[in-house]
Amino acid sequence: VKRITTHIVQEMKNRGEKIAMLTAYDYSMAAIVDDAGMDIILVGDSASNVMAGHETTLPITLDQMIYHASSVVRAAKRALVIVDLPFGSYQGNSKEALNSAIRIMKESGAHGVKMEGGIEIAESVTRILTAGIPVMGHLGLTPQSIYKFGTYTVRAKQDAEAQKLREDAITLQELGCFAIVVEKIPAKLAKEVAESVQIPIIGIGAGQHCDGQVLVIHDMLGINKGFKPRFLRQYANLYDQMNGAIKNYVGDIKSKSFPNEQEQY
Ligand code: KIV
Ligand code: NA
Repeated sequence: VKRITTHIVQEMKNRGEKIAMLTAYDYSMAAIVDDAGMDIILVGDSASNVMAGHETTLPITLDQMIYHASSVVRAAKRALVIVDLPFGSYQGNSKEALNSAIRIMKESGAHGVKMEGGIEIAESVTRILTAGIPVMGHLGLTPQSIYKFGTYTVRAKQDAEAQKLREDAITLQELGCFAIVVEKIPAKLAKEVAESVQIPIIGIGAGQHCDGQVLVIHDMLGINKGFKPRFLRQYANLYDQMNGAIKNYVGDIKSKSFPNEQEQY
């Protein structure tokens, strides 16, 4: 199979083919995602929430992201694998940012990194790009700044924040980012941004006019019980399916029906 590259992703936007992106954090799930024809697998720092049980994305470490990423890379035969630089590994110090990105590339074998923010992180983005490492931007609701926002609600509804987002998107394109994730912003703003830059705009909770879509796999498979924001389309209800299967297993052990005569040596 032919590997998806940042160039192929750009060609998709050019010809109007939507880009499919989904998170994965481990080998077995990534194998299923890759085999389903995903264009981009994101090793998101949402691993902090869905894999480690933290309330925010802030606690996950660079070493932990590298562990998740290396597992995903071993499974991804076709997808482009992009890894979130975690909180504290790139903000405010471009040398440290480059070191963090290099560690991800060398130690996991991933194909690029994602970073939250616009003009504030321009120096770090530039330094990483100079090393030949593809960078995906991330604007709008940037969960690493949750304590600044104070809420996970829709961003850029006011003119000033919308204008900054438009400018940040242009800035990230000019710096050389190959794509930008926009999270939880009005569909109208996402449409404007997607039309104002050449590079792909990949949305989550950002409407139908983006060049591609991304979701967290635990959310779209219904593993995260009770998490149902408006933007989320749930494609399965794996919590109930898995819970039911496991209950049956417990019941079969208790009732002595498992294992039966055929299931032993
Ligand atoms: O960490 C993550 O899963 C993400 C996506 C929601 C874009 O950054
Ligand atoms: Na993230």
